[in-house]
Amino acid sequence: MSQGERIGVLFVCLGNICRSPLAKSVFRQIVRDAGLDHRVHVDAAGTSAYHVGSGPDARTVATARERGLEVEHSARQVHATDFERFDYIVVMDRENLRNTERVRDLSGHERDVLLLRTFDPEANGEDEVPDPWFGDEEGFVAVQQMIERSCQAFFEHIRSKHGMHQ
Ligand code: 4NP
Repeated sequence: MSQGERIGVLFVCLGNICRSPLAKSVFRQIVRDAGLDHRVHVDAAGTSAYHVGSGPDARTVATARERGLEVEHSARQVHATDFERFDYIVVMDRENLRNTERVRDLSGHERDVLLLRTFDPEANGEDEVPDPWFGDEEGFVAVQQMIERSCQAFFEHIRSKHGMHQ
């Protein structure tokens, strides 16, 4: 769309320091492994302004690094113009969904906002990637696994939808 020929994917959570920066890194890695860097643009944002300008949470960075993934991001707040710049806006939980839909409604766009977890083949009826902020390390590992499974399936979805081959 507006990123030249590239499809834009924006992941959104609350603080933009845990879940969405991780999803950005996981998804970029999947896109890179598929040789489709030139076709997909990936970013992350938060519904809140709590941590604007901050880097990712140290616990997110440590959990990801144990699995061989670097997480680099500078937190920013989701904005109405994101609905012009990104083809897919993908949120982590229902609170993010409500707040992002509010931004969308102010922007005058009608596009669906997607819940990432609805792509998780092991979701067992759950549709949220829960906020890990107040939890322990186990929570961060669980969140990473949910994000990895969901991102893989979401990638297959957009790849087939857009007929993307290397
Ligand atoms: P995130 O996690 O939404 O996955 O980035 C959180 C980070 C910070 C806060 C809440 C959630 N906070 O309340 O500051």
